[in-house]
Amino acid sequence: MPIAKISPSLLSGDFGILAAECKRMVSHGADWLHMDVMDGHFVPNITIGAPVISCLTKHLDAFLDCHMMVSNPEKWVDDFAKAGASLYCFHIEATQDASALIDKIHAAGMKAGVAVKPKTPISTVMDLGNKMDMCLVMTVEPGFGGQRFMAECMPKVKELRARYPDLDIEVDGGIAAENIEAAAKAGANVIVAGTSIFKAEDISATIESFRTTVNT
Ligand code: DX5
Ligand code: ZN
Repeated sequence: MPIAKISPSLLSGDFGILAAECKRMVSHGADWLHMDVMDGHFVPNITIGAPVISCLTKHLDAFLDCHMMVSNPEKWVDDFAKAGASLYCFHIEATQDASALIDKIHAAGMKAGVAVKPKTPISTVMDLGNKMDMCLVMTVEPGFGGQRFMAECMPKVKELRARYPDLDIEVDGGIAAENIEAAAKAGANVIVAGTSIFKAEDISATIESFRTTVNT
């Protein structure tokens, strides 16, 4: 399985000082930064869009892992590419033609990720494994940080890992010390965590221990 990438979710940070929060996470050893984009339609919450990403990239040079919890994900590809997003991860539930959308994301110069909600079967994305750069298996219902990890999603990770040994597989939602091992064992290598990283007493140690658990 590919090496660990730890991607703290800025949703748990202070949006009033977002660039500083991003830099703080990088200084603690974050590999990627997970940006939760919510449109108030696909999920019942609103966060940030391309204008904020575009301001951020003027202040930092980090890999921005953009989790697009939006309806009509086709609509924002060019704006996010221009803003400097690194990876554009859309939800399979939000599109009619995932394959064409992946092509559009690649043509715009970004990596393409495909996310599945907890109740969405993994069969919906199985055939995209050689085309997408990453699959995000949600471990909470998207919309809010601080929810409970759903261990029942792990068989989906396992099934995907069995078929695609080299694919980046991301888990997102409720990841913490008590379940990182289950996620890693199932085959996840990209770890998103908001609450457990931002609330940690020792952020660097928490990131490092997630990394070690995945890599060993
Ligand atoms: C939820 C978001 C997550 C969330 C994770 O819709 O996709 O990225 O911020 O936060 P925690 O780790 O607190 O569950
Ligand atoms: Zn997310």
